[in-house]
Amino acid sequence: MTDAAKSKFTPRVFSGIQPTNHLQLGNYLGAVKRFVEMQNSGIETIYCIVDLHAITVWQDPVDLQNATRELAASYIASGLDPKRSILFNQSQVPGHAELGWIFNCVARMGWMNRMTQWKDKAGKDAEKASLGLFAYPSLMAADILLYHATHVPVGEDQKQHVELTRDIAIKFNHDFKVDFFPVTQPVIEGAATRVMSLRDGSKKMSKSDPSDASRINLTDDADTVAQKFRKARTDSEPLPETLEGLKDRPEARNLVNIYAALAEMTPEAVVAEYAGQGFGTFKPALADLAVSKLSPIADEMKRLMADPAEIDRILGDGAARANAIAEPILAQTYDIVGLIRSRRT
Ligand code: TYM
Repeated sequence: MTDAAKSKFTPRVFSGIQPTNHLQLGNYLGAVKRFVEMQNSGIETIYCIVDLHAITVWQDPVDLQNATRELAASYIASGLDPKRSILFNQSQVPGHAELGWIFNCVARMGWMNRMTQWKDKAGKDAEKASLGLFAYPSLMAADILLYHATHVPVGEDQKQHVELTRDIAIKFNHDFKVDFFPVTQPVIEGAATRVMSLRDGSKKMSKSDPSDASRINLTDDADTVAQKFRKARTDSEPLPETLEGLKDRPEARNLVNIYAALAEMTPEAVVAEYAGQGFGTFKPALADLAVSKLSPIADEMKRLMADPAEIDRILGDGAARANAIAEPILAQTYDIVGLIRSRRT
């Protein structure tokens, strides 16, 4: 953030997660847990379920509704307080799509073409990908800038998208000769900014990996969690004295990082505690720790999911509060661009 932006914009946190499949441990440690920490730091926090992003690839409508409610339940069960944070689903605030369109006209095709997530998701047959998937990052920029958010907590895989958001803000401000949108900071911190697959230390843990054994889902029961950690791929060496000793051992490093994030320790402290111990000791300790942290969340999710009407009410309330912040910013954007817009109530 530039010094000018620092002084002009009040700190405000925005982040979002797609309602596709169950949340996995990487989403929890890299995103949701950090969202809760930021909520508790006293800054204004806005957290979104980005259902418009989800439909850039095919979603069964009934599954999408279930996944949206389940994600809301995951947020709340993990410690997000819908009174202290604003929690809502993107499609209920029309400004996201409206500002997204304006940003489609600011961003350049070349910028989108360089996005690694676009290349990964569209694969070899980009001609068959939806137009929405290509424009995905400009909708993400709209999510953030619709609230003049200054800080965006995300995992490492979203860094490029947040950088593109900065480019869009800078180009908009430059084209229209204004200092209107903040140049947002990504906040990528902690031991678990990139949790890797349990089956392959070179791939990130992902909701969409075909192998369920590659990830811990927030909905997994205690036995499944223990079994997945037991079967996690590792080497046969004991844990070293220092982190340096894990340099060429990505699977071992991943488990140490997961332990550190769950226990709220540094990876250095974890290695110091388990130095010389093999995975026969470390894996069960990690599984016990994970179960002790995750099973209360899974239980609370089940309780919340039993009352979908209450979840819908919370999302509706969050959307109204989000809309109240978004509306004046969108109205000013329309003015800046030269679009006539009768005031809406
Ligand atoms: P999504 O839904 O893929 O992931 C949600 C969040 O989880 C993080 N994450 C991980 N962190 C650590 N290790 C992993 N293995 C891992 N896998 C996922 C992601 O970095 C992310 O923070 N484009 C976004 C959603 C989005 C958004 C936004 C985010 C839409 N608009 C505005 C921030 C601000 C996405 O697909 O996240």
